[in-house]
Amino acid sequence: MKIAVIGKGGREQALVETLAASPCKPELYCHPGSDAIARTASIIPAKGFDELLQWMADNKVDLCVAGEESCLVKGEGIANRCAALGIPCWGPRKESAQLEASKEFAKEFLLRHRIPTGMAKAVAGYDEAVAAIGGQYPTVLKFDGLAAGKGVAVCPDAVSAEAFLKEVFIDKRFGEGRMLVEEFLTGPEISIFGAICDDKYLILCPARDYKRLQDGDAGPNTGGMGAVASRQLVSAEVLKQIEETIVAPTVKGLQQDGLPYRGFLYFGLMLTPQGPKVIEYNCRFGDPECEAVMPLLRGDLATFCLEGAKGNFQPGLIDFADDWSVCCILASAGYPASSHSGDLISGLNECAARVFHCGTKKTADGWVTAGGRVLAIVAQGPTLEAARTAAHAEAAKVDFPGSQRRSDIAYKNM
Ligand code: AMP
Ligand code: GLY
Repeated sequence: MKIAVIGKGGREQALVETLAASPCKPELYCHPGSDAIARTASIIPAKGFDELLQWMADNKVDLCVAGEESCLVKGEGIANRCAALGIPCWGPRKESAQLEASKEFAKEFLLRHRIPTGMAKAVAGYDEAVAAIGGQYPTVLKFDGLAAGKGVAVCPDAVSAEAFLKEVFIDKRFGEGRMLVEEFLTGPEISIFGAICDDKYLILCPARDYKRLQDGDAGPNTGGMGAVASRQLVSAEVLKQIEETIVAPTVKGLQQDGLPYRGFLYFGLMLTPQGPKVIEYNCRFGDPECEAVMPLLRGDLATFCLEGAKGNFQPGLIDFADDWSVCCILASAGYPASSHSGDLISGLNECAARVFHCGTKKTADGWVTAGGRVLAIVAQGPTLEAARTAAHAEAAKVDFPGSQRRSDIAYKNM
């Protein structure tokens, strides 16, 4: 079986390695890939989308796995292009991926299908936004498009709200687009991953990510500074509530709206005092949650994705260990506002944990930084305590100039 994974980060390395470890022993290919991924998968010699699709067709790829989100909505969408070529794709069609690409589309979907979520109003400009906020703080402002996790601002007061409105509507930091003004919700956050195949689904191992840069949830929002995953993270009772009020109605809603979906679907939830509510959908695995979850996966992920992509859902092919898994991210100097490349990484040989490369390059001197998030260092254990102690101890062995790492991953919010 030939599998092509699309993406280049730590999430895609975790997917590639887990797919490669499948008992059916698939051949792995990746685009655009990375030096770290190239140890497990052959990098596809293609420049751009058209060449990639052509290469997959010419090389008779059996399965395309969309790791990252942008390929789902770029051009006609990778799943749509694969469908036209007869290549099974694990990752949804462009029309369905609007659940992630447009916050307004997602909010309308949630309300139409009566899935619990915060109230919100869509606005097109500065003054309309100020009117929609109506002096109610805290308020949550969400740019209506893909913004690499940076398009959301939780604003405690008018000063911070107006600063973000200026960035969006005057400086146009994310380009043209509308915005949602959303009700502020409270409670612990949880990431639930579904594998969706038409009208069927499997809920995978839940996880929690840490979005703020610094300890104690201080500092700016990032793509994620760490994660903890375990089947024990959510009680059976809460998971049942999430399944009944959120996951099952979402899958039914996709069917009712004629939105084809075969792939991972990430439910970003808040466990509010009124019950679980959807904060966002992502049409892919979370990053860094994927790096924490994949080491717990047992079974044959490659056949699971291939059969799912063909519409032949086989949930019995995969399962998750009862262990805990903790992921610590090392980010480069300046992240998330900027990033720093070329800093030499030390300690990788001493590190006994699994290391996924989010943004690195291999040079004659060794591995160097090449991105905002640089490394994901992941350890498992039979208890939360064992997993987090190991993850932090192993992450502490790895360093580079200006490195940033949270020391409270899997300690806070547990
Ligand atoms: P998102 O990119 O939509 O996941 O939002 C980023 C972060 O903003 C979330 O992980 C939450 O911490 C926070 N957030 C988003 N929506 C809300 C909300 N309605 N109420 C409170 N916090 C929110
Ligand atoms: N960890 C958050 C995300 O992948 O969007």
